[in-house]
Amino acid sequence: MDDQRPHASSPIVLDVTGLTVAYGKAEVVHGANLRVHEGEFVVLLGRNGAGKSSSLHAIGALIQRKGGEIRFLGQDVTKSNARALARMGLVNVLEGHRVFTTLSVEDNLMLGTYAQNPHGDKAAVESAMEIFPELADLRHQLASRLSGGQQQILAVAQGIAAKPKLLVLDEPSGGLAPLVIDRILTVAKTLTRQGTAVLLVEQLVKEAFKFADYCYLMENGKIGGEGTVESVRSGDLIQRIYLGGAASEQE
Ligand SMILES: Nc1ncnc2c1ncn2[C@@H]1O[C@H](COP(=O)(O)OP(=O)(O)OP(=O)(O)O)[C@@H](O)[C@H]1O
Ligand SMILES: [Mg+2]
Repeated sequence: MDDQRPHASSPIVLDVTGLTVAYGKAEVVHGANLRVHEGEFVVLLGRNGAGKSSSLHAIGALIQRKGGEIRFLGQDVTKSNARALARMGLVNVLEGHRVFTTLSVEDNLMLGTYAQNPHGDKAAVESAMEIFPELADLRHQLASRLSGGQQQILAVAQGIAAKPKLLVLDEPSGGLAPLVIDRILTVAKTLTRQGTAVLLVEQLVKEAFKFADYCYLMENGKIGGEGTVESVRSGDLIQRIYLGGAASEQE
């Protein structure tokens, strides 16, 4: 399967082995393995409660891991904290809006750059606004004045301003208009062409498949299957993805 993987020969950006996550005594991720290569767009699918967000949070050291090994950019970062990972370029755009509504669009973007540069990085702010010109027109607006879709775009732009080597997106659609998710994923795809890796969790399978190169299916806290988007589309895994309730938009 791996030899079909178009990015198989590119350097591995993220290598997760045996990831286990528990909340108290309840183990919800049981030894998951996954990989993302340089310039690769990977989507992690699975039904509600499968453990996708828990895995992303644990990878980014935003919650404690029970077990497993994480390598990032060739380094063992199993013991690194979230701040160190962010500084290395592991950037999380989490589920839901997390922009600062009392700050302007520009200041929100500036906040995104602090992980890389404690003094802020004006050039990175400007380049994020070049990538999302719709934000440039709103630069002095308070984020609270933005629509839900605009706030979601701002959250992603904030992640991009942090100069990710790996951009992790947890359900950027967030129940918003398909046009917004299309816009966000188009930008993410553009970044992969410059070598950035993308790890996406998304319920809108059809949308995700338009952009992704490789797919992992999470079932009950385990990786139940994986493959290129083409092989998943034409094989049996697609049935499990839909039957598992990972999607609500099958045609
Ligand atoms: N903070 C928490 N404390 C306790 N249990 C949690 C917590 N967060 C998630 N869980 C449980 O862990 C399991 C996996 O949840 P998780 O949010 O990782 O799933 P998910 O695949 O992201 O689902 P969704 O598609 O609904 O976002 C679920 O059973 C959930 O109830
Ligand atoms: Mg989730």
